[in-house]
Amino acid sequence: MIYLKTDEEIEILRENNILVSRALAEVGKNIRPGITTGELNRIADEFIRDNGAVPAFLGYQGYPASACISVNEQVVHGIPGSRVICEGDIVSVDLGTYMKGFVGDSAYTFAVGEVSKEARQLLEVTKEALRRGAAQAKAGNRIGDISAAVQSYAESFGYGVVRELIGHGLGRKMHEDPEVPNYGARGRGPLLKEGMVICIEPMINMGTKAVVFEKDGWTVRTKDRKPSAHFEYAVAVRRDGADVLTDFNIIEQALNNK
Ligand code: MF3
Ligand code: CO
Repeated sequence: MIYLKTDEEIEILRENNILVSRALAEVGKNIRPGITTGELNRIADEFIRDNGAVPAFLGYQGYPASACISVNEQVVHGIPGSRVICEGDIVSVDLGTYMKGFVGDSAYTFAVGEVSKEARQLLEVTKEALRRGAAQAKAGNRIGDISAAVQSYAESFGYGVVRELIGHGLGRKMHEDPEVPNYGARGRGPLLKEGMVICIEPMINMGTKAVVFEKDGWTVRTKDRKPSAHFEYAVAVRRDGADVLTDFNIIEQALNNK
């Protein structure tokens, strides 16, 4: 069952996702060698609460933190704790808010200081794959148009597109229909309609697409332990094209002033 949102509901979803973007910027400003993922989680949790929202991930299906923080070979759902960030790491931060009855959900992968040129390319390609997918979020297209745009761009660099985790509808609940895979065929899948809101979230591996689920019950890592990147937008489908509700400019401006 896909819920279509009114303009008013989309504006509340935008408010949530702008707050998520600001919280990601706040975490990004604080990412430096020596800080722990647990400290970054606390910064995210405080920022979300100080701005009148509730961290949507905390307690979700038993998840024990307000942020997912996944370093290098960790793909997604890394549980923050004592892991220390190092120069050269790539750090995926995924955050959610709950405010005014709706959810915000977006993610960004940060480079810590000087990273390898291979890692830099992985980040740029994953972000560009997301942009190309989002550009397909237009009424009359199908989910498969988004999926194929993400997959073909990422695979053209020889990267692995994770299959086990996918994007989703977003609204009063964090995970609504439809499913939004990062792989698939143009012209297939559910028809996109004005007022649908979806999260597109490519998880792209430098090496194999295969992943392993760690025994902590949450962390997903690459099978070959090569790095992985994750960027996520919330997007409203409009007749005249995609309306991206997440704002990476907020994050990138904060990093430029770091
Ligand atoms: N952003 C993630 C997703 O879209 C949600 C994190 S899982 C949680 O599925 F349990 F931490 F909430
Ligand atoms: Co999501």
